[in-house]
Amino acid sequence: MRTEVAIIGAGPAGLLLSQLLHGAGIGAVVLERQSRDYVEARIRAGVLEQGTVDLLHRAGVGARLSREGLRHDGLGLAVDGEIFRIDLDGLAGGKHVTIYGQTEITKDLIDAHLARDAAPVFEAQDVALHDVETNRPFVTYVRDGISGRVDCDFIAGCDGFHGVSRTAIPPSILQTFERAYPFGWLGIMADVPPCHGEVLYASHARGFALASMRSRTRSRCYVQVSLDETLEDWPDGRFWDEFALRIGPGAAAHITRGEAIEKSIAPLRSFVAEPMRHGRLFLAGDAAHIVPPTGAKGLNLAIGDVKLLAEALTAFYRARDESRLDSYSARALQRVWKAERFSWWMTTLLHRFPTTDPFDRKIQVAELDYIRASRAAQTALAENYVGLPFG
Ligand code: FAD
Ligand code: DHB
Repeated sequence: MRTEVAIIGAGPAGLLLSQLLHGAGIGAVVLERQSRDYVEARIRAGVLEQGTVDLLHRAGVGARLSREGLRHDGLGLAVDGEIFRIDLDGLAGGKHVTIYGQTEITKDLIDAHLARDAAPVFEAQDVALHDVETNRPFVTYVRDGISGRVDCDFIAGCDGFHGVSRTAIPPSILQTFERAYPFGWLGIMADVPPCHGEVLYASHARGFALASMRSRTRSRCYVQVSLDETLEDWPDGRFWDEFALRIGPGAAAHITRGEAIEKSIAPLRSFVAEPMRHGRLFLAGDAAHIVPPTGAKGLNLAIGDVKLLAEALTAFYRARDESRLDSYSARALQRVWKAERFSWWMTTLLHRFPTTDPFDRKIQVAELDYIRASRAAQTALAENYVGLPFG
């Protein structure tokens, strides 16, 4: 196979890049290790920044998002059960966020690929990158026991944190920055109405909790758990009891308990790999950086990278202009580090660490109290939450 851009990974980053390139008349082939069913069922993010929504519309995959997405103009913060509201719309210049599941974005993008007869190559095993330092890189893989090869001008590494692309950058060039947090999030999905009208972040002496949703009839709820806990430790009844305690009696009064249709534990990590480009290889999304989910930034950052990369590749193919490709890594990283900072800050502010002593808890509560009373502090939170502009 010969194409302009070989894209590794059919997550939101890889699929959206392929869709945007198609719109610009640039060919791309997407290689994905997992099956279509697996990719479409993976439950993850749910909060979209306006820039993410705009880009999905520009890519022609915004119709269902417009119909089914829920606009949220604010969010809630609960401190030991007492709730106050951050008015995102009022504080961040009329900006808001949209609730729409990452799974739905993935389905919409795969449908758009199928509609133009450009299905991703699913179940591509042993994907390997070759000659990324030359102008004629290529990717090899194995599918159904048969070897395949994609010759291309560029490779986009959109294969997530556990992907292979990042390893194609020599260790002497790649710098990594990392922080692992000493806890995880236990998340459940349940077909019950949300207990709070907006996303509610709860800081409690017993630990963090988050009340979110996918629709008016589907709840997505999380509690902080320690890393040695397993799903067996958390039958539905225990989950709802702990969740209710942490969000406090006001919101808990509106909980409808329901059977978990999905339950999983995710570790929390901050990670950045620099640079995001090596020769003809460009990294985008979780392949280059991970944030803890507390700020709802991971998916939005991945989409932000894709916007920059699609623009850079388009400038190259339209006018042989390489300047955007040359500045891609630095521009993307500028925004990435600000989201890293915000996600780290939200995580540190709201979670109980094994080392949290009574003094630390007093400091957390004092900072939350300050945010409750200060328009300046609320504005800083709101600006970051709805998404910072590109520098
Ligand atoms: P991925 O979605 O990881 O996609 C990478 C793809 O590459 C996968 O399909 C994978 O199978 C494939 N792949 C991997 N290795 C190979 C290989 N060797 N060959 C071929 N293919 C390969 N973000 C937010 O913005 N808001 C939120 O509210 C939010 N909540 C979250 C909640 C949870 C519980 C979790 C776990 C994450 C959350 N995130 C959130 C983060 C968000 O889900 C990720 O940042 C996002 O999926 C990144 O997209 P991506 O396309 O870069 O990577
Ligand atoms: C959701 C996930 C997040 O990480 C977050 O900060 C807010 C909402 C969610 O899954 O809905």
